[in-house]
Order: sequence, then C-alpha cells, then structure tokens
Amino acid sequence: MSYEIAVIPGDGIGTEVVECSMPVVEAAANACGVSFETTLYDWGSERYLEKGMMMPDDGLDELREYDAIFLGAVGHPDVPDHVTLRGLRLEITKGFKQHVCKRPTYLFEGVTSPLRNYADGDIDFVVYRQNTEGEYADVGGREYQGFENEVAIQSALYTREGTESIVRAAFAAAAEREGRLTSITKSNAQAHGMVFWDDIVTEVHRDYPEVDVERLLVDAASMDFVRRPEEFDVIVASNLFGDILTDLGAGISGSMGLAPSTNIDPTGEYPSMFEPVHGSAFDIMGEGIANPIGTVLSWELLWDHLDEQAVARALRTAVANQLADTSAPRTLDIGGDSGTEQVANDLRARIE
Ligand code: NAI
Ligand code: MG
Repeated sequence: MSYEIAVIPGDGIGTEVVECSMPVVEAAANACGVSFETTLYDWGSERYLEKGMMMPDDGLDELREYDAIFLGAVGHPDVPDHVTLRGLRLEITKGFKQHVCKRPTYLFEGVTSPLRNYADGDIDFVVYRQNTEGEYADVGGREYQGFENEVAIQSALYTREGTESIVRAAFAAAAEREGRLTSITKSNAQAHGMVFWDDIVTEVHRDYPEVDVERLLVDAASMDFVRRPEEFDVIVASNLFGDILTDLGAGISGSMGLAPSTNIDPTGEYPSMFEPVHGSAFDIMGEGIANPIGTVLSWELLWDHLDEQAVARALRTAVANQLADTSAPRTLDIGGDSGTEQVANDLRARIE
C-alpha cells in the first residue's frame, strides 16, 4: 500500500525543518519497504500577504482524502498571530474534528535537562490536550473599540463530544501504559466548564476502573512538572492548559526543538495532522540552525498513527542513537553548533 500525505511547511523555521527532514523520513520508509507520496502546499503567511488568505476557501476539501497531513509551523512577523493561527492550523484541527492533541515528553539519553538529577528517560509522560474548543473556541467579541468603555469577551466552550473524546483517548492511553492518569483543571475558579470536565472524567473512569486518577489544579501541576516530573505518566488537560504545560514539558526535557505533536481525529473519519510543538521561531528563522528532531519525532507519531510501526521505530531509534552519541552533530538549542541540515544528514545516515 502507498500512502498519500499532504505537507504544509508553512512559515519560518517550519519550512526549514520540514525540508531537511524529508530525506530522513524517505530513508526510514524505504528501509521498511513502505511507500508514500507527498503533495506540498504553499499555504501560510506569504500566501496571506499576497492573497489575503492563509489557505484557499476549499482547502479542507483538498486535504480531506489524504491519509495524513504534516504541518511545519505558522507565524510571521508581519501578520498578526491570531490571523495565522486561525486561518490555517485551527481551521484544520476544528474542521477535521482533531479533538486529540497528543504530545509525548521524553528526556533522551545525551540531552541535558535544566532540572538537576534528571537524565536518560527519567522524564517520560504524555499529555493529551483537548484540541478543538475550550479556551480556544472562537466565541466572544469586542465592543466600543478605542473608547473608554471598551469591552472584550472571550468565552471558553466545552462540549460533551469534545471533552469526552479527549478524556477517553487519555484513559485508553493510561490503560495501555502504566494505569495512571492525571487530569489537570482549574475547577476551583472555573465552576462551569471545568467542573463539567471533572464530571466527564468521573463518567469515563467507570469504563476504566483499572486506571488510577489523580486530579490537580493547573497552578499546582505547573509546580509539580518541575518538582516531580518523573511521577507523571498520562496527563489530560484543556486546550490552553495543555498548550502551556507542553511548552513546560519541552523545557524540562531539554528543548522546544525536540518536542513532537499530533492532532488526531479519534474516529478516523478525517485525516489527522502531525507537527512539531514549536512555532516559526522569528528569532532564528533563515539561519539554518533550527533543530529538526521535533519534526522527525512528529513523523514518528504519524507513522505510528498509520500503524507502520517499523518506520516509526526506525525514526525514533535514529534520533535516540544520535542524541546519545556525544560526537554526533547537534544544534545550538541542545548545546551543539551544527545546522539543521547536518543533523538531518546524520540521522539519514544512521537509517540507511
Ligand atoms: P516558537 O516555538 O516559534 O519559539 C520559542 C523559542 O523556542 C524561540 O526562542 C525559538 O528560537 C526556540 N525554538 C523553537 N523551535 C526551535 C527549534 N526547532 N530549534 C531550536 N530552537 C527552537 O514560539 P514563539 O516565538 O512564541 O512564536 C513564534 C511564532 O510562531 C508566532 O507567530 C506564534 O504564533 C507561532 N506559533 C505557531 C505554532 C504552530 O504553528 N503550531 C505554535 C507556536 C507558535
Ligand atoms: Mg504551544
């Protein structure tokens, strides 16, 4: 079988890491006898500056038939962030009901954590972040703009479908891993949406009695990410909390440049989308020094999702071996001085 994958490099370092990673991914697929074709889409901020739209009107129809979508990153210094994010990434995640954003956090051997006394896999958890609603719902408005009585309202939205799918996905993962799930909310302050969330956790727990559930408030959880990260295994959180906590996760496991992400439609009706956690990184774009590993690990998750386990393993093994090898090229963010391309070439050589 041959897979069809849509690739949207996007903006800034998104384009750099995607381009450099493609030969690594091709090498892994070849080595495992898996064939795939990619179609490149130039959707992103340059297109917005030219045509006023991040992607065409019928963009979702275009993507609909692919087996998966790969996204680099979006974000441009000359385009407001809410335009870039809403015009592309959120269109796709919401339109394709990609309720589940699964983000593994792993401290690889050879990577230095800013936390003392942690090394070699001591940090190993996965965050299930609600991906289509919550605090990122497009619900609200502004009135009296520019006047003294100006108001802005931004509402969070929690549906049974959106909440239950992320909570079910997290329970299923916890049952498969170590049987422990941490649900992170702020139910003391947000008595509607987050107490509803707690109720759904209680309901779904009945189907997974073997899973132990811990409930934390997000402020305490942030502290515990630093104080006792080794105790987490599977975490479930709302859109905003999951977003913030996974940047913290990337930080404690060595670098934003290493962190992979997924946007999954758990029903399989629509294609799922894979991307590194990081954005377009204005501060380093165009320099060729972005770490491509978060992208390669996102491809690992893509192949895992398509159940091509051998390809997924080949990519992960190459990354793990490279990071553990003190003489291998590495990028600046993890203490090296090599470029994106050198790191990617070395990964490819480890696979071929
Ligand atoms: P960012 O993730 O682009 O960068 C944060 C910091 O991490 C920067 O110092 C950057 O240099 C570093 N970094 C990120 N990726 C790296 C890599 N692969 N290798 C080495 N260092 C890396 O977040 P920031 O700066 O807040 O946002 C920049 C733009 O990206 C904004 O327009 C933002 O809206 C957008 N963004 C887009 C996302 C997406 O497409 N999914 C996610 C996050 C931000
Ligand atoms: Mg983020």
